[in-house]
Amino acid sequence: MKNKETFYITTPIYYPSSNLHIGHTYCTVAADAMARFKRLQGYDVMFLTGTDEHGQKLQRIAEENGMKPIEYIDKIVDGVKDLWKTMEISYDDFIRTTEDRHVKRVQDIFMKIYDKGDIYKSAYEGWYCTPCESFWTETQLVDGNCPDCGRPVEKMKEEAYFFKLSKYQDRLLDLFENHPEFLEPESRRNEMINFVKQGLDDLCISRSTFDWGIPVPIDEKHVIYVWLDALTNYITALGFPDDDEKYRKYWPADIHLVGKEIVRFHTIIWPAMLMAIDEPLPKKVFGHGWILLEGGKMSKSRGNVVDPVVLIEKYGVDALKYFLLREYTFGNDGVFTNEVLLNRLNSDLANDLGNLVSRTVSMIEKYDGGVIPAHDVPGEHDDELMAVATGAAAKVDAYMEKMNFSGALDEIWAIVRRTNKYIDETTPWILAKNEENQGRLDTVMYNLAEAIRIISILILPFMHHTSKEIWKQLGIPEGQCTGWDDTFKFGLIPVGTKVAKGPALFPRIDIEKELAVLMNMDGTGNAKQEEPKEEPKEEKPAITIEDFAKVELKTGKIVECKKHPKADKLLVSKVEIGQETRQIVSGVAEYYSPDDMVGQTVVVVTNLKPAKLRGEKSEGMILFAEDEDGTLKFVTADAADGCVIQ
Ligand code: MSP
Repeated sequence: MKNKETFYITTPIYYPSSNLHIGHTYCTVAADAMARFKRLQGYDVMFLTGTDEHGQKLQRIAEENGMKPIEYIDKIVDGVKDLWKTMEISYDDFIRTTEDRHVKRVQDIFMKIYDKGDIYKSAYEGWYCTPCESFWTETQLVDGNCPDCGRPVEKMKEEAYFFKLSKYQDRLLDLFENHPEFLEPESRRNEMINFVKQGLDDLCISRSTFDWGIPVPIDEKHVIYVWLDALTNYITALGFPDDDEKYRKYWPADIHLVGKEIVRFHTIIWPAMLMAIDEPLPKKVFGHGWILLEGGKMSKSRGNVVDPVVLIEKYGVDALKYFLLREYTFGNDGVFTNEVLLNRLNSDLANDLGNLVSRTVSMIEKYDGGVIPAHDVPGEHDDELMAVATGAAAKVDAYMEKMNFSGALDEIWAIVRRTNKYIDETTPWILAKNEENQGRLDTVMYNLAEAIRIISILILPFMHHTSKEIWKQLGIPEGQCTGWDDTFKFGLIPVGTKVAKGPALFPRIDIEKELAVLMNMDGTGNAKQEEPKEEPKEEKPAITIEDFAKVELKTGKIVECKKHPKADKLLVSKVEIGQETRQIVSGVAEYYSPDDMVGQTVVVVTNLKPAKLRGEKSEGMILFAEDEDGTLKFVTADAADGCVIQ
């Protein structure tokens, strides 16, 4: 027998820094649907996910929680695995970067690159963003902050090992320009082309200021840079380099699904590493968009439930998966609200699909004694229904090839809508009034059951419980006319099959009532008045009083303020601080107009080294506090300007 064609799909490996929210589940739900889709089509699928467990950020969080890194991480990883179990994610392997199988292989890969001559030791001086675990040069910073996440960066100076990334610049450019299929969507490819064209620096790939990582094999004072460690998971999980049967079978990956902010790591650093060890590149990287809340990034306690477990308990796993993949276009960002969720569930699931199935089964019970009847009286609208139903699979396949989950589901819903319309057009309740029409009525019933059978197969990758419930109600055993090839044919349900009405697939939600219930919960599904659970804060390490004394804080009064001529997010203020007036640039234009600023008495860091921000001089920093909804608020002082704060 011919070996099955393989399909290897991966998600990013998640940082186990705190529990995952609905945004994190997005990519994994998409990968799960894709894996199930390919399995349905007969592929031998390998679906990998896991956790990225090293790095300074995790070490710090564990310390803040008074735990050893691995103790803290084990707890979160258990939660991640439980979540995937609840969401019925059909992964084939879960890799943890602290597992021996990974650690040893990362060291082997490091040595392969070293032996090739692509790793050298030098001094590193630059900026590090700990939350992103990324290095930046001075020129890459935006307003002095991390260009990816906008948070402050830390100065770093240390001896370190470097990977000759610059050597691969031309090959990478060639990859983007001559293999457009390598990175999708298109817009992300253009970003990467621009990034490479600006010139690639060699990459610092070791750290010696903390030890929570994989030791550099030739120099145990250093640990391997967490991104180098993490990216290799895609091949260490397959046994590369020492136990390579699986590797030879599945590599190169058919697709790495990643969030948009980590495309750079996957399409520049990762391919360059593979080039260095002379291994094939993944066939495709897809950079999906983010699910956001109305105010911006996803976080708990904003009136929208972002804990996937709570949403699953309320509406079921199929509904949540359907919503995520239908509501948002995979390549773009989208906004999550309770209202969008509930409306989508009611309209597509309760009304369109749920009603179709329950009406059909009820009618077969009523008009045909619960037995699927013969179908030998064709009539108007039959051909169109059959064409829509049997033509959908090819279109769904084309959408899935493009990672367009929303398009694929809409295509399936075209059959749902067409079938509902067929009921309205054929009016079975009128046919039933006259016995002479029984033959036609039977045919209509048969056609409805067949259209639903095709729908039930096509939705299997997205909502397998619903598929199985439909088969139960239609009386067809799994495996009998429920395969991919059976979606192209009409007329497969054996006449005489007994249907059995079951519970509503998706109960209708009273949206107003439900919104009120949800609004009374915090993001984790608890009633709001309860003490909200503390999220681990990204706190900085303790400093001495001497360190603190180095910062000079004074009160100042803003006397003038204008928009920055070249940067939308910045305001340029004149601040009176006792006898002197200083110009200070602040990144708060999103929250305050220049008029709001004038007249405020604020706290200023007065001994910050002056800097130029997009061409405007800035002599100090006005302090703001980030509110729980992410907006910035003045730190005010009940004192005259010029007072020293101590
Ligand atoms: N550990 C790295 C990935 C290493 S892969 C070799 C990492 N981890 S992460 O936990 O911070 O993020 C994992 C994924 O979750 C990323 O792809 C990121 O884009 C995604 N998301 C995090 N929040 C998200 C949303 N709100 N919406 C959609 N995806 C989001 O980066």
